[in-house]
Amino acid sequence: MPLSKLPTLTQYLIDQRRRFPQASGELNALILDVSIACKAIARTVAFGSLADIASAGSVNVQGEEQKPLDVASNEMLMRQTEWSGHLAGMASEEMDSPYQIPGEYPRGKYLLVFDPLDGSSNIDVNVSVGTIFSILRAPQDVIDSGRDVTDEDFFQPGSTQVAAGYALYGPTTMLVLTVGNGVVGFTLDPNLGEYKLTHPNIQVPEDTKEFAINSSNSRFWEAPVKRYVDECLAGKTGPRGKDFNMRWIASMVAEAHRILMRGGVFMYPRDTKEPTKAGRLRLLYEACPIGFIMEQAGGRASTGREPILGVPPNALHQRIGLVFGSRNEVERIERYHAEPQHNDSPIPLFSDRSLFRD
Ligand code: AHG
Ligand code: MN
Ligand code: MN
Repeated sequence: MPLSKLPTLTQYLIDQRRRFPQASGELNALILDVSIACKAIARTVAFGSLADIASAGSVNVQGEEQKPLDVASNEMLMRQTEWSGHLAGMASEEMDSPYQIPGEYPRGKYLLVFDPLDGSSNIDVNVSVGTIFSILRAPQDVIDSGRDVTDEDFFQPGSTQVAAGYALYGPTTMLVLTVGNGVVGFTLDPNLGEYKLTHPNIQVPEDTKEFAINSSNSRFWEAPVKRYVDECLAGKTGPRGKDFNMRWIASMVAEAHRILMRGGVFMYPRDTKEPTKAGRLRLLYEACPIGFIMEQAGGRASTGREPILGVPPNALHQRIGLVFGSRNEVERIERYHAEPQHNDSPIPLFSDRSLFRD
């Protein structure tokens, strides 16, 4: 198709809405507002050190340093979506509690959850960052009463998401989206300022030879993860019989994008580094939306023990172990978690290949 004929995001959304003749168009309007905020964030990110934003130097509820761009991106998303009447409330990595829609605006039926800037430790080094978002339906009593939202209103498993997506601010800005009917990717045309549908049907290859994990944490990994990575590292001469490649960008959104484009497996598993935390990444605004996208693209997303999309949240900023990507690899990692563990013991007789193995 000639470039000028590629459908825009608006055209794609109108097309999708035609599948549901009763739909009011509010979801589309909300997604478009999010996409506009992402354009604004993309521009700000592109200005780098020249961006005219206040330096925040604050710390968020999770004890993490907030970069000025984290705070500015959060503001841009809120300002672009709060007025529309489509939202009952929002939650973000950068806000301790849910954000209440100000009294001057009508309240709507959706909840918006986001990580305004994922991978923000990469900003200073000019490496790709992105915005991740998830759209949930507000509980019926919130819609009926228009009351303030509570943390609990957001505690819905990922399987209930209505839409999820991310914008990636790399050499090009891309928006990747699912409304539960596959995964599509748009490239922001810098001339027109329009998102164009360049990737109409994104599919994650089932198999891969590429994995991503922060191996500086290896001494904290659980046995199934150690085993999986060891087998990858053993390459052709090991049980997998093929060489693997490794990548680590430290921007989960960029890793997710690479995996959607060419396959791979990403792991930020539960480990023993901080035993009080179930993982590094956050369930509601990192794992759930990326999990929804992966599953919609034919990949898989898991804690290692159960599907991510089935996990019932119990805190707004809940952390979780996360494994996603090419289906056969994720299933293999799940199998390793399900199998009885033999390789905890340093004694060879009791190790994986011992005589005592079942
Ligand atoms: P955020 O910038 O939103 O806090 O998230 C960063 C996350 C994720 O994008 C990435 O995979 C991970 O943190 C990087 O962790 P390491 O510092 O262990 O590499
Ligand atoms: Mn993040
Ligand atoms: Mn972030």
